[in-house]
Order: sequence, then structure tokens, then C-alpha cells
Amino acid sequence: MSKRRVAILISGRGSNMTALVEAAKASDYPADIVLVISNVAGAPGLAFASKAGIETLTIESKSFGKDREAFEHKLNDTLVAQKIELVCLAGFMRLLTPWFVQQWQGRMLNIHPALLPSYKGLHTHERALADGVKIHGATVHFVVPEMDSGPIVMQGDVPVMPGDTPETLAKRVLGVEHRIYPEALRLVASGQFKSPAA
Ligand code: GAR
Repeated sequence: MSKRRVAILISGRGSNMTALVEAAKASDYPADIVLVISNVAGAPGLAFASKAGIETLTIESKSFGKDREAFEHKLNDTLVAQKIELVCLAGFMRLLTPWFVQQWQGRMLNIHPALLPSYKGLHTHERALADGVKIHGATVHFVVPEMDSGPIVMQGDVPVMPGDTPETLAKRVLGVEHRIYPEALRLVASGQFKSPAA
């Protein structure tokens, strides 16, 4: 079985990246995590990835200032040079331009800490608590130019408990994220799920 070559883009802790790396250790997993890129220097997730023997790179978006395209061209050139087939955004906290998204349309996944299409954007747990919803969760979706709006691959839900804070709720949702992202990547990498928009 040939495995898809996957790059993971992170900005920080990298716990979803870690979940993907762990899942990909299984011999029957259809994806190989060959590269982890951070747009933030010193992102804690990088240390885990390099300890796991994965090539890591920092392409600092900050040093490109407002020149989004220059940053993204460097990112894209790196992915192409490494023959990457699928990109997973995992806590990658930088909006991507339509140009970059189009290069990877149908081949780039993101995990979002809410049940889309509810709570696109930031501060999802705070907003869910403020609304008093009883069910919350996480979504893995293909990335399209419009933020948090691409075809959904998988979702997982959690109950909202009385007394929850954004932190306790985030922790419960994160447990679901770590379960569904590897499952979603398995479906996409094996070709069982294709982006309807691709
Ligand atoms: C995760 O909860 C992820 O869903 C969220 O950031 C966290 C990153 O944690 N992503 C977004 O909010 C994207 N807009 P991690 O670095 O430990 O995976």
C-alpha cells in the first residue's frame, strides 16, 4: 500500500499534530506524516515532531509582515519540493489567501473546535457557553477560501455540562478532536472520502 505524503501546519502546542503522528504509526494507516511546519518560531509542537523523527521547519509568517503572498509562496514551494500530497492544518492560526487555498483545494484539511457551521472563527467555547447550547464539539473539514466553510469530513460532539468554563469545555472538545482528526485523515488519505468541491 502506498501512503499519502502529508504535511502538518501548526502554530503552537501541536496536540492534534501529535494525535495524527501517533495514528500514522500504524502500518495500515494510509498516510505518512513527513513534514511539520510552524509559522511561529519555537512552537512547542515542533519538539515533539522532531523527537518522533519527523522533519520540522519554521517558516515565520511574522517576518513577512503584511506580505501574505511572499509567506505563502515560500510555504507552497516547500510543500511542492517535498512532494506533499495532503496538508493538515492543526492549530494553524493564520488565515490563508484564496491563492494558497486554491493550490491545495480538495487536498487540505482543517480542524475547528466547534460544530460547524455554528461558531466559525475564534473564541468558539466562550461563544457556545454564552449562547447556552447543550451540545458542542469539533469538525474536520476541507479548506476553501471562505473561512471554516468547506465540506465537512467528520464531526464529534460533547455535552456542555453545568458549571463548564471555556477551559473545561475546551478540554472535553480537545479529546474529541484527537479522535476525529486521525479518523478523518484516514478516510481522505485512503480515498474513501473526497471533497465534493474538488
Ligand atoms: C485546537 O483546539 C484546534 O481545534 C484549534 O486550535 C487548537 C490547537 O491546539 N484551531 C482553531 O481554532 C483554528 N481556527 P493544538 O495545537 O494542541 O492542536
